[in-house]
Order: sequence, then C-alpha cells, then structure tokens
Amino acid sequence: MSAVTSFPADARPLLEVRQLSQVYNLNRQKLFAPRPKLKVLDSIDFSVRPGEAVGLVGESGSGKTTLTRMLTGVERPGDGQVLYDGVDVWTGGEAHRKLFRRSVQVVLQNPRSSLDPRMRVGTSLLEPLRSLKIEGDHGTRVLEVLDQVGLDKNALERFPHEFSGGQLQRIAIARALMPGPKVLIADEPVSALDVSIQAQVLNLLKDLVRDLGLSLVFIAHDLSVVAYTTSKVYVMSSGKIVEVGKPLDLFRTPQAEATQALVGAVLSVEAGLAGNALA
Ligand SMILES: Nc1ncnc2c1ncn2[C@@H]1O[C@H](COP(=O)(O)OP(=O)(O)O)[C@@H](O)[C@H]1O
Ligand SMILES: [Mg+2]
Repeated sequence: MSAVTSFPADARPLLEVRQLSQVYNLNRQKLFAPRPKLKVLDSIDFSVRPGEAVGLVGESGSGKTTLTRMLTGVERPGDGQVLYDGVDVWTGGEAHRKLFRRSVQVVLQNPRSSLDPRMRVGTSLLEPLRSLKIEGDHGTRVLEVLDQVGLDKNALERFPHEFSGGQLQRIAIARALMPGPKVLIADEPVSALDVSIQAQVLNLLKDLVRDLGLSLVFIAHDLSVVAYTTSKVYVMSSGKIVEVGKPLDLFRTPQAEATQALVGAVLSVEAGLAGNALA
C-alpha cells in the first residue's frame, strides 16, 4: 500500500470546511454606483483526514489562496464553518483556537517573500514558537527539524540571500514544522522554483507526510504536480468545487469543464516538451 493511502479510510476529518462562502466588495466603477460584489468562495465543502494528502487545483483566480486563508484561520468566512478536529475554530473557544493555530501550518509560494531578509535563519525558525508561546527545548527542536528537511546546522547563522530558491523553500517548510503541526498547507509551493529543483521539494513533502504522519493540503494550478503528491484532488473553478476524485481518474475521465482544461494544459505542455526534444 502506498504511503498516501495508509490512513484509515473511515477516520473523521482533521480539518474541514462546510458550506464556506466569502464575498468581497470591489471598488466602485463610478462615483455613487454600488460597489460590485465578487463571490470568491461559493458553498465550499472540503476536508482532509489524519495522514491524508489532498490536492486542490484550479486556474489562477479560482479562489485557492482565499480558501487557504480560511483553512489557516487568518480570515474569517462570511458564511459557513471551519472545523479543526470536529470543533469550529471561530466559536470553539480560546484553548481550541490555540491548538488549531499550532496544528495547522502553511508554506507559501515564494520563500523569498515569506522569510524576513534581515533575520538569520535560526531566528526565523524560532519565530513561530515565540508567537505561539510554545515552551520547551527550542535548540534541540531546531536541529531536529533542520534534519527533517535535509539542511545542515550551518544554515542557522546565515541570511536568506545566501540560499537558493529550493533551499529557501526547505527553510520555509522547516519553519512550518517547528510548532509540530498535524496539517501542512502548501499553497503553490514549487510554482516559483526552477523546474530542475521542483521534484526535490515535492519529494520532501511526500516524505514528510509519510514519516511524520502529517496531513497535507497541496494547492497548485498544475494537475500533474498535484497528482504526484496526493491521493485525492478537489478541482476549483470560480470559487466553487466542481469535481473531486482520484488524480488518475481526473486525468482519464475529467468530467467538469475546468478539469478538462487542466488536463489539456498538462498534455499540451508535454507535447511541447516532446516537440522540443525532437527539434
Ligand atoms: N482582498 C480581496 N479583495 C477583493 N478581491 C480579492 C481579494 N483577494 C482576492 N481577491 C480576488 O478573489 C479571486 C480569487 O483569488 P485567489 O484566492 O487569490 O485565487 P487563486 O489563489 O486561485 O489564484 C480573484 O478574482 C482575486 O482577484
Ligand atoms: Mg493563489
């Protein structure tokens, strides 16, 4: 059995959203005109179980990052619920909210903008423990996490500009691991990296899911990247979940128009690569 499917199939969701909707007010087109509204998320149901790796794909602007902001609790939904371990994170009380904030960590697309350029890596890694007021032997924890992401302890004294994009994304993953999360949310974690190092970061995420028993929510606009890392994929389009399925089924028999477009994009990229190889 592969690692990504080794969780109990009947386990209850660890992180879940129910009927989640969000509307943004846009800027007026004309003075005194009503502000146009944009329904960024429309009645979304989404969940991930303990140890499960789930994908979320959709074209740019479909609402993926907005959903990430809801899943990590940085933005409160206009409608619907976000539940961690079965309890609403907005109404479940202070102790539960603290547990949720510690247990769900995020890795963003661009590690150069998510790490403070003036901070040594060691300081950046300790930051989540400080802001979440987590006690313990932080020095030991830092070394443990560096090892998990395949970095040497020399990294601690250095500054972000001294690293390549791939190494920086490892550091961002390490920082997300510091509080000991149960769920890792990766929002386009390899989109800003050179193609040649994307696979290393994808493999690292896969290994972490297997070795630490983490749940992973992997977000991308590229279906093939998601298919490689997850066992179940949600397809998003214009703020709605339009299809859910196993990656291979989505490739073979895409139902929704948005899924067909994503499959088409992958195939045309491959055809292009093959064309280049022949040229
Ligand atoms: N704070 C905001 N105010 C108004 N519109 C926003 C805001 N944030 C995002 N949007 C719009 O919401 C839509 C979804 O954006 P986003 O969640 O970033 O999509 P994705 O991550 O899939 O590319 C886009 O049309 C975007 O322009
Ligand atoms: Mg996005």
